[in-house]
Amino acid sequence: MLDEPGLRPKRLSDYVGQVRLKKKLQVYLKAAMERGEPLDHLLLAGPPGLGKTTLAHVIAYELGVNIRVTSGPAIEKPGDLAAILTNSLEEGDILFIDEIHRLSKTAEEHLYPAMEDFKIDIVLGQGPAARTIRLDLPRFTLIGATTRPGLLSGPLRSRFGITEHLEFYTPEELAQGITRDAQLLGVGIDPEAALAIGKRSRGTMRIAKRLFRRVRDFAQVAGEDHITRARAEAALDALGLDTLGLDPKDREYLEVLLTKFAGGPVGLDTLATAMAEDSLTLEEVVEPFLIQQGLIKRTPRGRMATKAAWTHMGLPAPEASAGLFD
Ligand SMILES: Nc1ncnc2c1ncn2[C@@H]1O[C@H](COP(=O)(O)OP(=O)(O)OP(=O)(O)O)[C@@H](O)[C@H]1O
Ligand SMILES: [Mg+2]
Repeated sequence: MLDEPGLRPKRLSDYVGQVRLKKKLQVYLKAAMERGEPLDHLLLAGPPGLGKTTLAHVIAYELGVNIRVTSGPAIEKPGDLAAILTNSLEEGDILFIDEIHRLSKTAEEHLYPAMEDFKIDIVLGQGPAARTIRLDLPRFTLIGATTRPGLLSGPLRSRFGITEHLEFYTPEELAQGITRDAQLLGVGIDPEAALAIGKRSRGTMRIAKRLFRRVRDFAQVAGEDHITRARAEAALDALGLDTLGLDPKDREYLEVLLTKFAGGPVGLDTLATAMAEDSLTLEEVVEPFLIQQGLIKRTPRGRMATKAAWTHMGLPAPEASAGLFD
C-alpha cells in the first residue's frame, strides 16, 4: 500500500492501541536510557499488518538512535551480516531484521556472538590459509520481527531479552487510527463511519487504513466532502466484506471447511489443497483472525469449525457433530 509520508506514527504516543505492550516498553526504554545502555534485544511477533515494523521505527525515534533495516531472506551469506554489523552501526543503534524466522542457519550462528558479546567472527582468505578473526562491534540492539515465532530456533529465541506479541486491535482502536489518518489528510469522517470501517478490518491496522482510503474514494466520487456511516457501509459492502470483516478468502476458507469437510477436523495441508492455496498463507494470514473470532480451532487432529462458524455462514450445523462443540 502507498504509505503517504507523514502518516506512519513516529512517537509512542501516536502509536494507537497495544496498550499493555506500550506500558512495558515505556519502562524498558526509560530504564535503558537512564542507565545509558542500549535497549535489550527485542523480538516482536504477530500476524501481518499489526504494526511490528512501525513499532521498531517508533522505538528508534524514542531512543534517539539510528535504525538499520534488513530482513532474514536478504542476509544470504555470513559476510552480509558482518558487513551490516561492522559498517553501519554505532553504539546504541538498532538493527531491525524483518522476517527473522527466514534467516539462514549459518547467518543465525554468526548472529549469536554478535547478540551476546557484541563480537563477530570473520573468515579471511580461503582454503588451508583461511583464518578467522574476531571483531568487536558497537553495542547495538537487535529488533527481530516475525509472523511465525514458532519457526525460530530455541537458541535464537533465548537470546532476546524481551519477547512481545502484538495483539489484534479492537474496532475502537482501529477507528482511532483511521481518524488520525483522516485528520492528517484533511478528510472529514464521522466517528460512526470510522467505527464501521474499524469493525470490518479484521483487527488489523493495515487493513483499516487501506479500507479507509477506499471508502474515501467512494465518498469522493459520490461528490461528498465528508464520510458518513451510510457511505462507509455501502462502500464496505461493495468491497465484499461481511459484517465481521471477513474478506472473500476468509469466507472461502470457512465454506470449504464446512461444506467439503463437514466442519473438520481436517489437516491444514488438505484444506490448503482443496482451496488451491498455500498452507503457509492460510496459517499466517487467514487463520489467526478466524481463531481470534472463535470461528475455528486448531486441534491435534486438525482444523475444526466452531458452532459460531456455522451460524455466521448461515448453514445448519450437522447434528452428528453437535457433541464436538465444547
Ligand atoms: N499502532 C498503530 N498506530 C497507528 N498506525 C499503525 C499502527 N500499527 C500499524 N500502523 C500502520 O499500519 C500499517 C502496517 O503496519 P506495519 O507495516 O508496521 O505492520 P507489520 O506488523 O510490520 O506488518 P508485516 O508483518 O506485514 O511486515 C502501516 O501503514 C502503519 O503506519
Ligand atoms: Mg513489517
